[in-house]
Amino acid sequence: MTISTPQRRALLTDAQLSRLAPSHPLRAAGTAHSPMIRAMAGDRPEHPPVWFMRQAGRSLPEYRAAREGTNMLEACLDPELAAEITVQPVRRHGVDAAIFFSDIVVPLKIAGVDVDIVPGRGPVMGSPYRELRDIESLPEIPDEAFDPIREAVGRAVDQLGSTPLIGFAGAPFTVAAYMAEGGSSRDHLGPRTMMHRDPEAWNALASWVARVSGQFLAAQVEAGASAVQLFDSWAGSLSERDYRAHVMHHSALALEAVEAYGVPRVHFGTGSSELLVAMKEAGGDVVGIDYRLDLDEATRRLGPETPVQGNIDPAMLDAGWEVLQKHTVDVLSKGRDAAAHIVNLGHGVPPSTDPTVLTRLVEFIHES
Ligand code: CP3
Repeated sequence: MTISTPQRRALLTDAQLSRLAPSHPLRAAGTAHSPMIRAMAGDRPEHPPVWFMRQAGRSLPEYRAAREGTNMLEACLDPELAAEITVQPVRRHGVDAAIFFSDIVVPLKIAGVDVDIVPGRGPVMGSPYRELRDIESLPEIPDEAFDPIREAVGRAVDQLGSTPLIGFAGAPFTVAAYMAEGGSSRDHLGPRTMMHRDPEAWNALASWVARVSGQFLAAQVEAGASAVQLFDSWAGSLSERDYRAHVMHHSALALEAVEAYGVPRVHFGTGSSELLVAMKEAGGDVVGIDYRLDLDEATRRLGPETPVQGNIDPAMLDAGWEVLQKHTVDVLSKGRDAAAHIVNLGHGVPPSTDPTVLTRLVEFIHES
């Protein structure tokens, strides 16, 4: 079975599907025919499919209740809790896909790296990874160490039925940026200097992250994810020159880890308007566009055959329904230049968002 039209790159061929277990939702639950996976494969289903980055999180009271008293990384490694939080936004909003509840630093935790997620700050390392000797001490992760992830994905897809689960990982630059800085930073000077001062150490770090992010993606796909997204949230701090010279081959490696399965892969960055073409060259089937660039202009840069994802400005969620509706109509209209359009925000749901606005937005998009 091939679900894409002949003139487009074939996704999910028989040969690829046969690499997935017979019980995989793409084979057994029909997620291959869902509006989300069809759009990601380059088709235009009956209604535009929609999901939201950070839909599983602090904007939901049921998330805050479920998480009470549990540290973020502990929650990610508790299969029952992670599955429950993954399914919550599908139950509440009727979005066309779930995004796996986890974090880009979970593979680091699994590898035994001293990392925590501090509320209001994000990931923080016990010490930064800048010197080759520290980076060389990072371990290879045995595949069975990802078992809690496989179990959480399995529990989530059992509940999701024909609604696809999107797996994800952090792109090498974004994750390595946290590791090189030891935490968050504004302009990512640490990793951007490191790639020039000590390219050998930078390459060792970025390729270690590419391998573990690739393993993280593969574990999710094998356990039941029907698509994946690679998040390069901080790529926008790079020049295209540095992205091409020091970053893109590492991102390509992470994306290649699941290529053989044929599941659609979304490649997303923020502030990445000038990097879109290079990001597409690095790999992926769909390019995620942040809120800064109109989708018709993104399609002009990428070519009409590339499915796009995006890009309702998260700032509009709290700007009043009329404003949000008008903006959404504009986003839908500008998405029509591309072969296919997956509706999303141009970055994550802000924690202060009124969840009823998201539910209403999903209904509005489905009626469009
Ligand atoms: O709904 C979803 O998208 C589900 C899962 C998800 C989380 N993090 C859960 C989470 C995903 C896909 C991520 C990815 C992630 N994590 C990215 C890339 C996406 C992006 O937003 O650009 C990045 C950069 C991180 C690192 C990270 N983790 C940050 C910056 C933070 C916020 C820290 C804060 O308190 O401001 C986190 C924590 C985090 N990850 C939360 C959630 C639900 C909040 C945890 C809480 O409830 O306190």
